[in-house]
Amino acid sequence: MSNSLNRRNFLQAGAIAGVASLLSPLTLKAKSIEEITDSEIGKSKWDLDSPALCVDLDKMEQNIKTVHTRLKGTGVGVRPHVKTHKCPAIAKMQVDAGAVGVCAAKLSESEIMLDNGIKNVLMTGVNVTVPKIKRAMALRKKYPGFIQAIDNPQYVQDMQDAAKAAGIVADVVVDVDVIQRSGVMPGAPALALAQLISKMPNLKFRGILAYDGAANHIHGFQKRKVEVLKNMEPIVKTYDMMKAAGLNMEIFSGGSTGTYDMMQEVSGFTDVQVGSYLFMDRQYIEIGGAKNEKVFDDFAPSLTVMTTIINMNYPKKIITDSGSKALTLNQPPAIVIGEPDFVYSAGSDEYGTITFDNANKSYKIGDKLELIIPHCDPAVNEYDFMYGTRKDKVVSILPILGRGKSQ
Ligand SMILES: Cc1ncc(COP(=O)(O)O)c(C=O)c1O
Repeated sequence: MSNSLNRRNFLQAGAIAGVASLLSPLTLKAKSIEEITDSEIGKSKWDLDSPALCVDLDKMEQNIKTVHTRLKGTGVGVRPHVKTHKCPAIAKMQVDAGAVGVCAAKLSESEIMLDNGIKNVLMTGVNVTVPKIKRAMALRKKYPGFIQAIDNPQYVQDMQDAAKAAGIVADVVVDVDVIQRSGVMPGAPALALAQLISKMPNLKFRGILAYDGAANHIHGFQKRKVEVLKNMEPIVKTYDMMKAAGLNMEIFSGGSTGTYDMMQEVSGFTDVQVGSYLFMDRQYIEIGGAKNEKVFDDFAPSLTVMTTIINMNYPKKIITDSGSKALTLNQPPAIVIGEPDFVYSAGSDEYGTITFDNANKSYKIGDKLELIIPHCDPAVNEYDFMYGTRKDKVVSILPILGRGKSQ
């Protein structure tokens, strides 16, 4: 029987019985956070079952402090992007440290943050369908600290109608294009969009958002700085046009971990949307910083995955239990801490393969290795929770409530 026939039979059965009743004999169960907390707190991270996502809280807290210390007195605030950690408990730490609010990428991510006590959330992604716009306006009705990005005049009337129906005046920022991904074109189109929003009785224009995701990872501080400042020139012109037109320009948000200490040179700029600074990852470590051209060491790598060696059948080869579902397929590959000669491949779903010529010590099946992740955001999205550690001991369990929230 062909696969399509199987699938059709299954769907027909589902239609007849109802998908819910097909599932009804199952009792859905998962360990609660309390159960996990009870069994894991106090353990060494080296004794955790793996793959285990661990965050060194001392390092992460230092990273939070560093961004505020470095930006103090520059006039630039911090609006961290929660797409990196998807964890309300960490967002709260960022807000308590002085963030002006947080950014979220998606509506469901915004909902998780607001429903869990984070008061000010700027959604940097846009909503283009009427149901989603209505959902966003319902969220704004519930939480006055929700700000929504928009990048196309086509959706302004839908947003106005939804805001009116919800009985609110909704806060809106215009996303201006920098990297040909999202955003209205800078200059006249952005100005026209901002003016259109400002005329709507149920919308309040709050300013602009301009994210340069291309310059973030340019290797070499000076090279990166020249590029990001050049890329921001049309955005600054747009900002000036809006200001000259008498528009409310209280927000000019953008930037990232790679450019956080450059954005104060952008006229009118108000806050950086740093995300990865919390954890760092291999992609960022290798770009170099202002003081160290080779290693971007302004922030410490706080996020690691503990993995277990499960097979050593072949010489110069180690197999682990952490493949693409633990690390993603992002490049460059994970770093094995303490073993600079190890080359990690996460190409298999459940397995990692390490090849090497030299090892600093000998290994056996069951031994643990600690990995620095290629790219933190999508890897975090693979886990239900992070182990919060201090001096290698688990002290807390941090649920990643926004995990899988990509709608
Ligand atoms: C709109 C926006 N702002 C900020 C960030 C955070 O960037 P980073 O993690 O490089 O600091 C991202 C990341 O993708 C983003 O998409």
